[in-house]
Amino acid sequence: MAGIGLDASITEKVFALAKRRGFYWQAYEIYGGVGGFYTLGPLGVRLKDNIIRIWRKIFLEPYEFIEIESPTIAPYIVFEASGHVGSFKDAMAECLKCGKKYRADHLLEERGVKVSEATGLDLLEKLLNENRVSCPDCGSLNWRVSSFLTMFQTNIGPYKESIGFLRPETAQGMFVEFRQLYEINRARMPLGVAQIGKAYRNEISPRQGLIRLREFSQMELELFFDPQNSRCPYLDEVKDVRMNILDEEKVKAGDNVPHNVNAREAVEKGFVKEEWLAFMMALSQKFLFILGVKPEFQRFKAKLEGERAHYSAQTFDHEVLTGKFGWIEVAGHAYRQDYDLKSHSIKSRTSMEVVEELSNPIKVRKRFAYVDPLKVKRDFGQLSTQIFKAVSGLKPYELAELLERYGNIDVNGTVVGKEYFMFKEVEETVSTRKYVPHVIEPSFGSDRLAYAALEYAYTIKDNRVVLKLPRDIAPIQLAVLPLVSKDGLPEKAKEVYKLLIDEGFTVEYDESGYIGKRYARFDEIGVPLCITIDYQTLKDNTVTIRDRDTWKQVRTDIKELPNLLYKYFRFKINFEDLGLPVPIEKP
Ligand code: GLY
Repeated sequence: MAGIGLDASITEKVFALAKRRGFYWQAYEIYGGVGGFYTLGPLGVRLKDNIIRIWRKIFLEPYEFIEIESPTIAPYIVFEASGHVGSFKDAMAECLKCGKKYRADHLLEERGVKVSEATGLDLLEKLLNENRVSCPDCGSLNWRVSSFLTMFQTNIGPYKESIGFLRPETAQGMFVEFRQLYEINRARMPLGVAQIGKAYRNEISPRQGLIRLREFSQMELELFFDPQNSRCPYLDEVKDVRMNILDEEKVKAGDNVPHNVNAREAVEKGFVKEEWLAFMMALSQKFLFILGVKPEFQRFKAKLEGERAHYSAQTFDHEVLTGKFGWIEVAGHAYRQDYDLKSHSIKSRTSMEVVEELSNPIKVRKRFAYVDPLKVKRDFGQLSTQIFKAVSGLKPYELAELLERYGNIDVNGTVVGKEYFMFKEVEETVSTRKYVPHVIEPSFGSDRLAYAALEYAYTIKDNRVVLKLPRDIAPIQLAVLPLVSKDGLPEKAKEVYKLLIDEGFTVEYDESGYIGKRYARFDEIGVPLCITIDYQTLKDNTVTIRDRDTWKQVRTDIKELPNLLYKYFRFKINFEDLGLPVPIEKP
C-alpha cells in the first residue's frame, strides 16, 4: 500500500524503481558512492522542475512575490552574523574503538530512546553509554559526544584566512540583499522574496536516501511584513483548507491527536502566532495535495523552545506520513521575527529599516543610546577603536533598540554590555515611522518532496508497478505508440508525436516491442496517457487514448487531440471526456 505508513519496504521499492528508470540514484557509484549525494536522472529532473513550477504557481504568482538567485557561497561574516557559525551544529557521537561518527540523537532513537533536539552533549553521551548503544560498525559500547558544525567550509580565493561557507539555507541571500530588494520593489510592504537553489549541509552520517542530503535543493520564501500591521489579506482564500495542527501544548503533552482548523481559526485559537504564518501553512497543505498527498496524511507539528532554530519565535514542521520513516518533514514554517535583518544590520552597519509615511504626524517618545567613550577605553583598551567604528554605523535610536532587545552588542566577538552606553529619552513629532520588518518563512526541500510524491504514487496493479503521479507533476505527459512497427503506422505515429511536441506537451515516442509491454513501461514511470495509432487511424484519422490508472481507452479524432489534451492537463477534465469509449478486448 502506498504512502500511508503501512509498508516499511516502500522506500527500497521506490529506490529500486527510481534507479532502474532514471529518477535518481546515489552519486559517485563507480567509486563506491558518497553518502548524502544523489544524482537526478532525466525523469527526476523533470519531476523536480514540475514541483518547482507548481510551487511558484502556489506561493509566488498570485501575490506578486519576487524571486532572486544569490551566490551559494558566502563569506564567513554572513554566517557569523546570521548565527549559523555559533548554532548550526549537530551532536556527534564518536565510537571510541573504531572512530566512526554518527548523529547522537539518531543512534538513541534507533535504540528507542527519544531525545529532543535541545538535549545537551553531556546528557547525550551519558544516555548512549548507559543504554549500551552499540556502534553499528564495530559493536563497541563506548562513546564520546561533541558538537559538529554542519556547514561546509571553503576558502574564497587563494587566501586561507578568507573563509567562506557553502550556504546551509538560501534564506540569507534574501536577508543580505534586503535593502536593494525593498528599493526595487518600490518600497512596498509586505514584500515576498523567494529563492530556489542548492543548499549544503555537512551531515554527520546521512543514511536516508533523498530524505537527508548533504547537497540538496530548497525553495524558500521570505515574507517581510510590518509587525504592527501584520494582517494577511488572503486568509479567506484558504478558508476551506483544514489543517491538522499539533500546537506546542499538544506536543508538550505528547498528545498526537491534532486540532483540525483552518488558518483563521488557527490564529484565533492561539495555535499559530501570525496570520501570515497560518496562511503559508495552508498554502503548503494545498501544495502537498497537488503533489498527491491527501490532507489526512499531512500534519503541522510545532517545534518546542530549544528545538527551534536560533532565529525562530515559532516553527511548525510540515510533515507527511511515509512508510519507512514515519512522519517526515517536507517543509519548515518559521516566524523569524526581525532576527536576521537586525543581525545583519549590526554586523554590516547598514540600516535595514523601512519607512512608512504617516497620514497624520504623531508624537513619539524615542530612546537614544550613545557609547560612553571613557568607560569603553578604560575596559576594552585597544579594542575600543573597533567598537567605536561599529556603533558609529548605527543611528542612536537603532542602537538603543538593539541594546534593549539583546542587552549588549557583539563587535567581532567582543560583547559590549548596556552599561557602556548612555541613554536619553526625547519626545518628537514625526510624519514617518521606521521599523525593521518581521519575517515569515516557508522553506521546502524539493528532493524530499520528490521522494514523498514518488512514495504516494507507487502502486501495484496486477503484479506490476503503476506510478500514479498526479498529472501536474508527471515527468512525461504523453506517450505516442504505433500499435505495430510496420504498415505505415510508425510514420503516422511520428506525425502525431510531432503535432503534440509542437503544441508544447512532453511526449515520448516508442515503437519497440509488444504494445502491452510498452504500456507497462509507461505506467511504471507515471505517464498519464498513451496515444495509440492503429489500423483504424489510417482509415479515419482517429487514435485511442489509454488511461494509466484505469487502463480504459477512448477513441478520438487527431484534430481534436491537442485541445482535449490541453483541457485534460490544464483544466483537469475527466479521462472519459476525451473521446468515445473503446470496448475492452478480451484476450
Ligand atoms: N531556511 C530554513 C532552513 O533552511 O532550515
